[in-house]
Amino acid sequence: MRNPDSHGLTRREFLIASTTTAAIAMIPSSAKAQAAQVVANEAPLSKVAFEVNGQTRNLELDPRTTLLDALRENVKLTGTKKGCDHGQCGACTVMVNGRRINSCLTLAVMHEGDQITTIEGLGTPEKLHPMQSAFVKCDGFQCGYCTPGQICSAVAMLQEIKAGVPSHVSADLLATPQPTAAEFRERMSGNLCRCGAYSNIVEAITEVAGGKA
Ligand code: FES
Ligand code: FES
Repeated sequence: MRNPDSHGLTRREFLIASTTTAAIAMIPSSAKAQAAQVVANEAPLSKVAFEVNGQTRNLELDPRTTLLDALRENVKLTGTKKGCDHGQCGACTVMVNGRRINSCLTLAVMHEGDQITTIEGLGTPEKLHPMQSAFVKCDGFQCGYCTPGQICSAVAMLQEIKAGVPSHVSADLLATPQPTAAEFRERMSGNLCRCGAYSNIVEAITEVAGGKA
């Protein structure tokens, strides 16, 4: 029902409007100034330079940008996939200075001067990396979404075994770990495959490692 004395507002609308105005007035002016400062300071850009697949990239980006987003959005290399975006699936695995990492869990600005290898840097369609060929040969994928991460992870993982880095299933922590299926499964456990291509992935890795699945 309209109240002729309240400028065409119903009593209910009038009460809501008055309460909102009062609430805004109660925000301390320091908080308002702080909020204005945050808006004014929004996204000051940071410079970072690193190598991606042998090519130097000079970027200027919001310091909160993850390496994954920098690779996909700024460098425009979309082979590295975003699955969970918080370190649970391994789809975003790339190699940084030869070590595999989840690129969604690290900020781009932390990689000044680093050498980053993505799936695009491992091989080309004409000349596949042996791990890429083995995945094709052994049917190590179905939808393919996890595959770039699986392949980058597998390549770095074999280097870890060669370097003698033990895993949770290494029988003797002091002995050189062996390239067995058990080692592969344990070491690749951070790379999830929703299509369940795990046995073929292990077969592909085994082939590259020179063993039998
Ligand atoms: Fe990085 Fe899932 S997207 S771990
Ligand atoms: Fe589909 Fe791994 S091939 S998620």
